[in-house]
Amino acid sequence: MTRLTTSEFLIGILAIGYFAIVQPVPAVAQSIDETASVCAGCHGDKGVPIDKTIPNIWGQNRLYLLNQLHDFKVGHRKNEQMAPIVEPLSKTDIEALATYFSKKPWPDLQQPAASDDVKAKARAVLDSLNCRGCHQEHYQGDTARPRLAGQQDEYLTKTMTDFHAGDRKTYMGMVALMKSIDEADIKALGAYLAGFKIPGHP
Ligand code: HEC
Ligand code: HEC
Repeated sequence: MTRLTTSEFLIGILAIGYFAIVQPVPAVAQSIDETASVCAGCHGDKGVPIDKTIPNIWGQNRLYLLNQLHDFKVGHRKNEQMAPIVEPLSKTDIEALATYFSKKPWPDLQQPAASDDVKAKARAVLDSLNCRGCHQEHYQGDTARPRLAGQQDEYLTKTMTDFHAGDRKTYMGMVALMKSIDEADIKALGAYLAGFKIPGHP
């Protein structure tokens, strides 16, 4: 007969307690595919957003997606289109959506590489402010730090401008960094990062 150690026993009890708390029976059972089909209305059913100012969420880092959905839900990140979408979502829905979209392949948004002038301008900022220190070598991100490589150009520019203006305050580190650069730098960064290819990836 196998005997459980005290810690194994405790982990077992905690796991049972955790699932009992976070998995309430929904009033209307909806599959993750049904919930995600709502998202496709704007974020695209093949991962290509319907509008240039809408971000790609396919293949984005799970923890980052989770944080954003939570921040929209509590009003920490403000957006007219996302607010009514997250309003009815439970914590369990948000966790399931973050997992679902993080497992999808990042789409090729067919954005051109930036021109040499724009590259030079963007690289000067990226190196001096050490963006790769957090967003990683190929701007692929990590956990709560989002992937930037191949994200939509106009969305990147918009959201960096929001940090710059203090309209997006989800992370004060990003607000401070974006306040230290100007509009022309932000535009160059958007074009450079949108056209950046991670070796071996779309
Ligand atoms: C009516 C259009 C619309 C629908 C439907 C929609 N979104 Fe969005 N979503 C947006 C827009 C616009 C933004 C960009 C907000 C901004 O500029 O700050 C966004 C941003 C996001 C972000 C932040 C991404 C990033 O890179 O910061 C996440 C995550 C997200 N949406 C997830 C979802 C999920 C999950 C669903 C479905 C449950 C959904 N969205 C449905 C329009 C929509
Ligand atoms: C100290 C770590 C750190 C550094 C350095 C940093 N970032 Fe970030 N960045 C983050 C984090 C964390 C987030 C997610 C913020 C949130 O939760 O909303 C983020 C978010 C972003 C976003 C939003 C992406 C999206 O999908 O909405 C952009 C764009 C961005 N960073 C660009 C940059 C650029 C360009 C630089 C260099 C000038 C930079 N970052 C430097 C940590 C960092």
